[in-house]
Amino acid sequence: MAFRVPSSVASKAGIFQNFYRLVFNPLSSITRSISVDSRYFIQGSAEDIQLSRPVQLAGRKYLPGSFASGFPEQLSSPKEGFPLVLKARNNGELDRKGIQFWSECFKEQLPGLYENFRNGGAPVAVLIRGLPIKTSNDSSRFIEGLGFEFFSYKGGSGIRKQVDDFVLSGALDAPEYSVELHNDMSYSTVFPTKFVITCLKKSKFGGETGICSGRELTANLDADLKAKFERKGIRNLRCFVDKSEGTDCSWQRVLLTEDKNEAEKFLVANGYTFKWEGKTLVYWSDASPTITYPLTEEKLWFNQVHSCHASYFKAMPMYEGSDLADEKYPAHTIHADGDIIDPDDLDKVRRTGWSTAVGVSLEESDVLFLDNLAVLHSRLSFNGERVVTTANLY
Ligand SMILES: [Fe+2]
Repeated sequence: MAFRVPSSVASKAGIFQNFYRLVFNPLSSITRSISVDSRYFIQGSAEDIQLSRPVQLAGRKYLPGSFASGFPEQLSSPKEGFPLVLKARNNGELDRKGIQFWSECFKEQLPGLYENFRNGGAPVAVLIRGLPIKTSNDSSRFIEGLGFEFFSYKGGSGIRKQVDDFVLSGALDAPEYSVELHNDMSYSTVFPTKFVITCLKKSKFGGETGICSGRELTANLDADLKAKFERKGIRNLRCFVDKSEGTDCSWQRVLLTEDKNEAEKFLVANGYTFKWEGKTLVYWSDASPTITYPLTEEKLWFNQVHSCHASYFKAMPMYEGSDLADEKYPAHTIHADGDIIDPDDLDKVRRTGWSTAVGVSLEESDVLFLDNLAVLHSRLSFNGERVVTTANLY
């Protein structure tokens, strides 16, 4: 089936025109395998970041789908190279050079890592340990130093607040809720190609970051399910009340404007169809369940059919006992032909994702850099204060 793709914006079809320019510095040579600059980084191993205690998944309260049969019991520990572990060499001379120096050192590693994925290796997911990052401003300067375009969270489905020039908070959902695996903003007609998390304060318990290779997930998903979604597409529905209702789910907060005309302009420019139901804004777009990855031209599962479905919200503490119609939640998904999504399909997507994922327990000052097109991320529930910053980059 044909999907409408806005021509004036970065989209599933058009986002990749700039991909090479933004990932590869044309002046740098592209290596054929992982080759870390040992002047600045020591390459760690999966042994270094094994989970120190089991992370229960099956039957986990407030984790969507976790009570369905076949759900994996526990989250796996990292595998060799996923994520890749880079430990910054700390010595007086390097420390004095500052955070942006480290941004440049790290960015120089990227072409080799993307090339490794092109050649069949793991997607780019890098845990950088030992950087001099203590505050959100440090984190912001590290992101700024990478020199990628900052991608606005306008239209983003999560609740995240801008905490410094180049970084947002992590998801501000209730700590007891586990945010499902997803490629950031993959429900949107425009989306970032990179996602970066920095840990500033580790929670006392839980709060692990699950990550999942999009290539492995695509391979592991049921073939009939993939074919069905390719055939029937996904319609991403959004529904936002007016801010006068006093919730975080207002169109003003999500679209970062108080002006209805501005909101409508954004929706038109980004290829959405919209309508007003009184003061409530409803908009939607149709999408393929996959993207074609620019470096390899392979099809990767890339959507939030599960984590933008009403069932995602119904599993949240804030909606416990809610009797809202599915399409009245801030987001909901159906097929592009109007059929509802089969709940068994949602269960399959969820259990395949978690069976494929690995968990990373971020330490303070850790940076986790992810290729958002090829790596899904999540956040497990936690106890105690936890502070991370996030950045969406293009
Ligand atoms: Fe996210």
